[in-house]
Amino acid sequence: MKITTVVLAAIGVAVALAVPTIPPTTKSGKAVIGYFEPLHGFPIDQFDFSKYTHINYEFAFGAMWKGAPDPYVVYVDYATEGPKIKELVRRGHANGVKIIMSIGGWYGSQTFSEVAADPVKRKKWIESAMAFLRPNTLGDNTTIPNGWNMDGLDIDWEFPGRPGAICNTASLNDTANYLLLLQEVRTQMDLEFPTNHKTITSAVSVFPWAGTDGNSLANVQAFIPVFDWVNIMVYDVHGPWSTSTGPNAPLYNAPAPGDPFSAQQAVDTWTAAGWPKDKIALGTPFYGRAFTATVNMNTRDPATQYAPHTGVAPKGGPSDSNATFALCDEGAQYWGFWNWGEIREQILIDDSLTVPVAGWKRYWDNTTKTPWLFRESDSMYVSYDDPTSMSLKVDFARLHGLKGIFMWEAQMDYKDELLTVLNQIHCSNAACVCDGVGSWNSTAAYIEPGRKVVYNGRLWTNKWWTRGETPSGTEWGAWKDNGVC
Ligand SMILES: *[C@@H]1O[C@H](CO)[C@@H](O)[C@H](O)[C@H]1NC(C)=O
Ligand SMILES: *[C@@H]1O[C@H](CO)[C@@H](O)[C@H](O)[C@H]1NC(C)=O
Ligand SMILES: *[C@@H]1O[C@H](CO)[C@@H](O)[C@H](O)[C@H]1NC(C)=O
Ligand SMILES: *[C@@H]1O[C@H](CO)[C@@H](O)[C@H](O)[C@H]1NC(C)=O
Ligand SMILES: *[C@@H]1O[C@H](CO)[C@@H](O)[C@H](O)[C@H]1NC(C)=O
Repeated sequence: MKITTVVLAAIGVAVALAVPTIPPTTKSGKAVIGYFEPLHGFPIDQFDFSKYTHINYEFAFGAMWKGAPDPYVVYVDYATEGPKIKELVRRGHANGVKIIMSIGGWYGSQTFSEVAADPVKRKKWIESAMAFLRPNTLGDNTTIPNGWNMDGLDIDWEFPGRPGAICNTASLNDTANYLLLLQEVRTQMDLEFPTNHKTITSAVSVFPWAGTDGNSLANVQAFIPVFDWVNIMVYDVHGPWSTSTGPNAPLYNAPAPGDPFSAQQAVDTWTAAGWPKDKIALGTPFYGRAFTATVNMNTRDPATQYAPHTGVAPKGGPSDSNATFALCDEGAQYWGFWNWGEIREQILIDDSLTVPVAGWKRYWDNTTKTPWLFRESDSMYVSYDDPTSMSLKVDFARLHGLKGIFMWEAQMDYKDELLTVLNQIHCSNAACVCDGVGSWNSTAAYIEPGRKVVYNGRLWTNKWWTRGETPSGTEWGAWKDNGVC
């Protein structure tokens, strides 16, 4: 473990020194936010920090589960997470990227209801959370820092006033208490960091929080002063619980029997409750969801992706697991997740992204603006997002003047393919694929794959380390042709 960290750090230094030869991506004031789970093995030194404005480290949910020594405070595990957080903050800050600590999530929200309801618990919880923002005064080499020097808190209570994971406590007073908690966090942050604004955000559902009647709040304006923005999770719209198969992340509403939730619906619903558009970051998935259909979807109307299914997710990509979560046993079941990286390595290995490997068929749903796949041999249907559907979501976010766009999760991408598309949020005009992209430089080294350059009126990305090779569309060349600007 130690050796690995040292080796990675050494490689990281070499890359960090070489990178300044590449012009950085233009930043527009819009946010590109990546949720990142460092314990899944993605090396931090492989981040192209120029493509993010914020990285949300998920999750500091220790120890908000019942049965923990103190279930009402948050902290990280120094041995496993400490070195990664330090590296992420150091590299992020060196590249002008804000690093935010996410707290809660599906499994880490067990005790939020109890914390928020009790002024004494709130105070103690806030004191524990502030450690993520404070500087470490014990010196860089201390094993147990007293501060992590992060830039904000992403307080992901899933969900106030609504049941989330089965281990959570929920109460109809949750949302009112959540507001108190957030107000107290805001006050404490402003007190401690009067000139260095720290952000408060939250990952929220396509509907606002539940009020005391159990329905979504019709007016959320009281929350505007406490949040810098909210991250609306427009994914998991259809899953094993749904009546029919359907898109994981529709841009526009699906027709019945699909469920009528989408990016458009989410933005409409939140803004109708008084939430400003420029405080919304639109959520996108870097993963697809599999179902087992009970009909052959290849012999039905190819324009509809709504079919009856078994209600039990099959095993999706190689990393999909049916392990139960130790701290909250919801039963052993697969999720049906296919990361974009796994889809690219196993199904859409052809760079056209429209011709799957044998056995699969690929379709495009022009209503929800999402692609889907079907494999007849085991009736597996997969809804997913590709650069085309992502690009339409980014256009939507730009058109509506949203704060930005985010993904769950950073490490699920394939060679920054989707992340690169999300960076179109920075574009200022309609035909924006090359907006802000520098010209090819014959003497510069392009180190990380996926760097964009403009040459001869076309957009190119490098497939590997290259210097001095003129972009051309040959199969063996270092440069991939991404079409005209
Ligand atoms: C911290 O550790 C590094 C590497 O082990 C060492 O080079 C440096 O001198 C140490 N700094 C302090 C202040 O002890
Ligand atoms: C909700 O709050 C009200 C008053 O603030 C209190 O009377 C009631 O007991 C609370 N309900 C729950 C479920 O905590
Ligand atoms: C998890 O999946 C494996 C492989 O499909 C299966 O053998 C195992 O029984 C499953 N575990 C549980 C607890 O269902
Ligand atoms: C897809 O929908 C758009 C409008 O959203 C329309 O302009 C376009 O013609 C449609 N394409 C097809 C192939 O139906
Ligand atoms: C091209 O790259 C070289 C080497 O990194 C650098 O010195 C030079 O300034 C770059 N030229 C332009 C026009 O960016």
